[in-house]
Amino acid sequence: MTADTKTDVAGLLAAGRIVRAAFAAMKAAARPGVTTAELDAIGARVFAERGARSAPQAMYDFPGATCISVNEEAAHGIPGPRRLAPGDIVNIDVSAEYGGYVADMGESFVLAPAAPERARICRAVRFAVAEALRRVRAGRSLNVIGHTVQRVADRYGYRIIGNLASHGVGRSLHEEPSYVPFDNPRERRTLERGMVLTIEPFFTTDTDDVYETGDGWTLTCGAGELVAQFEQTLIVTERAPIVVTA
Ligand code: CO
Ligand code: CO
Repeated sequence: MTADTKTDVAGLLAAGRIVRAAFAAMKAAARPGVTTAELDAIGARVFAERGARSAPQAMYDFPGATCISVNEEAAHGIPGPRRLAPGDIVNIDVSAEYGGYVADMGESFVLAPAAPERARICRAVRFAVAEALRRVRAGRSLNVIGHTVQRVADRYGYRIIGNLASHGVGRSLHEEPSYVPFDNPRERRTLERGMVLTIEPFFTTDTDDVYETGDGWTLTCGAGELVAQFEQTLIVTERAPIVVTA
């Protein structure tokens, strides 16, 4: 969508605050022994208290209020009986609709004791998003995002998953523009004032592909692989973008 009124900006910020609150409550409760279903119930409760709806549930019939993906799982992990273990990489991706506006955010983090290589990949992907956010401006190529993310991945020695990418958002969970997650010199579209987008690269140690597991939802990189994602929703302006999920 294009957020071109104050009402739109306020609506997106309100949705962003709710997904941030749900994420923060879930992350605070994430510790060894807790099941991913228990974490999901915490997120669902925040949505219910604030009058929001889980976007993946409402729009895709996803069997959970939030997506929780552990270790080699990249995305769309179904909350369930799995108990978190010490040292796990946990990805919580939260998106919700409130008052007709949708915000989407996610983060991978490591439960203690954090192996250095696990902490490093989470740090790297978070840094990539921060770097991309610094360069987003109306009038620039959409490729500033992919180009920047790719440079950070190269510097750290990670690969980027090619079939999971940032996307437009705002009225529904996935909108135009959809775009490639890495440097794409053929990109001709530009960042327009009011565009509502996510930036959400997935860094991995050794693959640029994910595949669906037998449950029909979970996207995994395969055993032994490390993967980390970081995601924010933003509104493009002529200056620094408004990060509605910050
Ligand atoms: Co997301
Ligand atoms: Co997203």
